[in-house]
Formats: sequence, C-alpha cells, structure tokens
Amino acid sequence: MVRKKMGRRAFIKGVALGTAGFMACPPSRVLGANDRVRVGVIGYGGRAQELVKQVQAIPSADLVAVADIYTRRLDEARQLSSTLQTFDDHRRLLDSKNIDAVIVASPLHIHCRHFVDALAAGKDLYSEKTMTWSIAEAEKCLATASGSNRIVQVGLQHESSGSLADTKKWIGEGMVGRVTHVQSWMSRNTPHGKGQWVRPIPPDCNAQNVNWKAFLNGRPDRPFDPNKFINWRLFWEFSGGNVTENMVHQIAWIITALDLSLPTAACMSGGVFSEKDGREVPDVIAVTLDYPNDLVVTWQSTFSNSHYGLGEHILGSDGTIEHVAGETDMVTGRSANFVHYYPETINRKGGAALTGQTADQSHMANFIDCVRTRKQPNASVEIGYRSAIAAHMANIAYRTKQRVTLEMARATGDLT
Ligand SMILES: NC(=O)c1ccc[n+]([C@@H]2O[C@H](COP(=O)([O-])OP(=O)(O)OC[C@H]3O[C@@H](n4cnc5c(N)ncnc54)[C@H](O)[C@@H]3O)[C@@H](O)[C@H]2O)c1
Repeated sequence: MVRKKMGRRAFIKGVALGTAGFMACPPSRVLGANDRVRVGVIGYGGRAQELVKQVQAIPSADLVAVADIYTRRLDEARQLSSTLQTFDDHRRLLDSKNIDAVIVASPLHIHCRHFVDALAAGKDLYSEKTMTWSIAEAEKCLATASGSNRIVQVGLQHESSGSLADTKKWIGEGMVGRVTHVQSWMSRNTPHGKGQWVRPIPPDCNAQNVNWKAFLNGRPDRPFDPNKFINWRLFWEFSGGNVTENMVHQIAWIITALDLSLPTAACMSGGVFSEKDGREVPDVIAVTLDYPNDLVVTWQSTFSNSHYGLGEHILGSDGTIEHVAGETDMVTGRSANFVHYYPETINRKGGAALTGQTADQSHMANFIDCVRTRKQPNASVEIGYRSAIAAHMANIAYRTKQRVTLEMARATGDLT
C-alpha cells in the first residue's frame, strides 16, 4: 500500500514556522565538572538492555528512568534499581526535569516520533539506528536536529571503531588513491528451520499487558498481534529488514571513510530464500549504490551462510583497505577481526602493507562525553541521515523492482 507522502517541503516550512515542536525546547541544565549525566531509556527491549550495561559502565552517568509500553519490560527495568522511575508512556518520561539525556531503542517505525519528541523536550539523544523508518522521516529528524542545540548520537557504533579511524587516516594520507569501487558484505546463519531474528512470544504478551495502539504508532488499527509486536523486524510496516538492521552500519562506515554524500541511484535484488517463515523482508540481498564522482558501492548479505562474516574492501588505484570481522578460519575455526592496508605497487612502489592498531572507542561513552562538552558525537545526525537515505533507497528499489534515483525515491513516499 502506498501511503500519502509526508511533504518534505511542507515539513521544512513547518520547521521554519516553529510548528515542529522543538522551538519550544526548554533551556537545558549546564553540566558542571562534578554533575552526573542522568539518562532515561525509551523502549527497554533487547538492544536497550545491552545499552544500559554500557551506561552503567560509565562512572559519570546514571540510569534514572525507563519508558516502555509492555508491562514485562517495565518489570525487568525495575530489577535494575529500586530508585529507577518507570513510565508506560514516553511523554511522561520526557516531562521529567530530572533527565538530561535519552536513549531511544524502540522499533524502527517509532524512532522518528521518539526522536522529535525527545528534542522538543530539551533532551540530548542517543537514537538507535536506522535513524528512521522512511526518507520523509529522515528529512524531518535532520531538520529538527539542525534547528536545535541538542546533542544527537545515532546508534551506529561502527563510527567509533578503531578500524574506521585507521581507514580514515590511510585515506587522508593519500595511500589509497582514486577509489571507484567499494565491496561490502554481511552474512549469518541459523540452525535449519529457525529463521534469523525470530523470537519466542512470552506467555504474558497479550492485549492487557501491551499498549498495542502506541506500538502501531498511527498504522491502521487491528486486533493485537503478538507476533508482529515481538517480531516486528520481519514486516515492512515496522522494519526495513536487513538493510536497516545491518547494511546501515557498514554504509555509514563507508560514507564516513570516504566522505560520501547521498547515493544518486540504488538497485537491490534478493528475496526470502533462507527460511520461508512468513517474513516479508528479504534474507538474501544484493545492493548496488551509485555515488557521485564515479563510485559504486555494493553490499551483499545472506542469512544461510556465515563463513565470511562481514567486511568492506575499499579498492583504490594506489591501495586496498580490507576490513573483516567474524570471518571463520576453515582450519582453526577462529574468527578474524582486522583492518589491513595493501599498496597497489604499480602506483605506489615501495609501499608497505599495514595492519590497523587503533582501539575501538565506547560509542556510549563518546555520547556521554559529548553531553558534557557539547562537542559533535562520532555518529552525528548527518551520518544518521545519509546512511538512512541509502538504506531506504535500496529498499524502495527492491520493492518497486527498478533502479531508483534519489529523486524517484523521494517522490515514492512510504511503502508499508
Ligand atoms: N546498534 C546495534 O547494533 C543494534 C542492535 C540491535 C538492535 N538495534 C536497534 O535497536 C532498536 C530496538 O531493537 P530491539 O531488538 O531491542 O527490539 P525489541 O523489540 O527487543 O525492543 C523494543 C522495545 O520497545 C518497546 N516499545 C514498542 N513500542 C513502544 C512505544 N511506543 N514506546 C515505548 N516503547 C515501545 C517494546 O515493548 C520493546 O520493549 C531497533 O531500532 C534496532 O534496529 C541496534
């Protein structure tokens, strides 16, 4: 079903008129050297429970509140501490004056709403990837953040990786030359009969314990569907499939490494081949993204073979950068994780092969640090925006079965 496109110009005009909400943003607390950053979480599911551990590992940050629309998640949050505040509506959490920063880890189709509401409430924001479910929403979040003085970190943690720092350094030093092609891939496997991402439905997951309307977030009303609520990743209405779950991390890494803007066109083929379990989103995927200035980026993925893990090959006239994570060695069974540079000796005589040595940074610690210093975090709203547009262009190409230009993608509107 093609839904009415959210007018991009109309939205940006709305922003200019102050109708998007954030103009009313209250002044925020200025943090002193000894003040602790007070963090709230919206959507306390699988990812948030990981992120909370990262917050707890930071000495200068406190988790103070959690909002979720499923009673089970609020009960789980209460196990964290007796003083933690819990809310069944994210707006009540955002009303709290005792919260400086908010982590949004809700399902993809609600990110935009939580993003805009958090900034309107004057909170700094760590928003999980992909920044938004659609192109129109990505434009909306970019405009909202641009008109605000809030810190925004998108949950693209590869932006804080040592491999990216090494890659940028090598490219900056001119060691790679002219890059016309980047290859990237990501692969996983599961036991026969068990599809990737499929989660069991807890016995208490019912209409009494879940605010289904809040989950639907404006999608057409219907009776409670526990499978869609728990396994939202498998359905287009709520998800962008593996392109928004995983490609987005690698595309963001490539965009930052090579300082890319938006793709000019996208193609995507594939289908539901690995496990035919009722999912809508493809599990075997081949994406091609055309970028300005003669560059093609490809990304391939399967959910029924994990041998090559994930990685990127930056192919330059003067050198190659090879970043690999999780590739399994056939003999030892060990998993690789490295970034290498190899000179193209026809153009870089005497160049030496190098191995990256830079350690990964904690993406969450980078966010908390930026809340204090007001510096730009490693995964800014701009990289959230560019990576989201690339992902959505690929999905639109797949779903409309054609090569899609940026203009065509923007004109397509929301495909649910
Ligand atoms: N950066 C990463 O590596 C990474 C890894 C995994 C997931 N993620 C992202 O994190 C997000 C969450 O994924 P997940 O696996 O934790 O999903 P999940 O389904 O486990 O958790 C989502 C939570 O949001 C709650 N929720 C739903 N609607 C809500 C609403 N209107 N208000 C408040 N809470 C609401 C649900 O009850 C649930 O507890 C997704 O965007 C996903 O892509 C990122």
